[in-house]
Amino acid sequence: MDKILVHGGNSLAGSIKISGSKNSALPILAATLLTREPCTIHRVPDLSDTHYMLQILTHLGAQVERASGIVTVTADKVQSVAPYDVVRKMRASVGVIGPLLGRCKEATVSLPGGCVIGDRPIDLHLKGFEALGAAVRVEGGNVKVFAPKLAGAVINLRGKFGPTVLGTDNVMMAAVLAEGTTVIEGAAQEPEVCDLADFLNKMGAKIEGAGTRRIIVEGVSELHGAEHDIIPDRIEAGTFLVAGAIAGNGVTVNRVEPKHLTAITEALSGCGFKIEANKQSITVSPNGAPKPLEITTEPYPGFPTDMQAQMCALLSTTDGISVITENIFPQRYMHVAELKRMGAQVQMEGATAVIQGVERLTGAPVMASDLRASAALVLAGLKAEGITEVSRVYHIDRGYEHLDEKLSELGAHIERVKA
Ligand code: EPU
Repeated sequence: MDKILVHGGNSLAGSIKISGSKNSALPILAATLLTREPCTIHRVPDLSDTHYMLQILTHLGAQVERASGIVTVTADKVQSVAPYDVVRKMRASVGVIGPLLGRCKEATVSLPGGCVIGDRPIDLHLKGFEALGAAVRVEGGNVKVFAPKLAGAVINLRGKFGPTVLGTDNVMMAAVLAEGTTVIEGAAQEPEVCDLADFLNKMGAKIEGAGTRRIIVEGVSELHGAEHDIIPDRIEAGTFLVAGAIAGNGVTVNRVEPKHLTAITEALSGCGFKIEANKQSITVSPNGAPKPLEITTEPYPGFPTDMQAQMCALLSTTDGISVITENIFPQRYMHVAELKRMGAQVQMEGATAVIQGVERLTGAPVMASDLRASAALVLAGLKAEGITEVSRVYHIDRGYEHLDEKLSELGAHIERVKA
């Protein structure tokens, strides 16, 4: 297994280009199953998660061509069974259930296993499919959905922890080929949901209201092929902005959609950093001593849970007491124990982390546990004294396109040790 070694202490400066969004690309690739015609998707990030999704599509019968970020999927014929072997590596594989149900009126997909960021049920997805007229059975580790006919319905997808992103995607993808009108109340408003709706509309779907709490889908009888550019990855951009805040002297992220990053840039401004945003770029620079902060993770447009670990790393080295509360995945704190090994002072109180900033962290061998936690450890290493050795970096490769190379471009001293 590869490791990443971060030699702390270098100052970062300059600019990098942000890749296409992982969390847009995954459901959009799944949505290509909804038509027999070829779909061409641009700016698909080169990540293990997108590779897994393409493997699943291939297993389901689609033909896939991939060349430098452009992926063409032709799902002329599809079959509707995805076994454990094919889906187990990635939770987002549940995103094929909606399109398979829409296209084939049935799907049998193995349920992904446990997840280190907490319990991740799909009850709301299933509730949505049932409302559209599907019979749903969970047996032998598989979820089976079947509907002789799908019919539009009013569905409230809001759960105990707020709206569900992939649940909204999944129900929307089934509803585009249902008879009549579906109204999704309590829909997720994330930009990735809007990107999927844009793609589906290009395929001939009739979706309104994406980006609001109420999405209306007018069912159509079939969809056609389409071409689409994936939106920039706001979490990758946020991660590099936090890298710039932790160890930078003017770091610019290019090819971003600044309005998707408002909660992140507001948090960094609140911390005392200077933020300059242009049409497609954002620069973070130091501006006096950083200040502690209180943050609560929330559904979009609130502060994203996918940036919580990285902020923990930043606030660990910010003088004063900061408080982070995780409202989406209350157990998503695997990075805290590792940050503590580097000298961070963090006390957990339920889903709240109380962070007493320290003057410096020290490099240590640490273990990546999930995608964002791993990124946080690399960021902490940029500021730490000595060498931080991050193992299990396959977690990073699931969701960051060339993180180590991009940080090197900015001047970090970072190396990947191949296993
Ligand atoms: N939830 C339920 N029932 C459901 C679905 C979700 O109770 O049927 C709960 C979850 O347990 C959680 C909350 O609702 O407490 C929100 O979960 P959501 O369904 O929105 O998460 P997701 O769609 O499975 C996506 C991203 C995650 C990101 C979350 C929240 C993708 C592929 N994944 O997951 O991204 O953290 O939304 O924004 O889009 C990451 O990129 O590192 C990552 C984990």
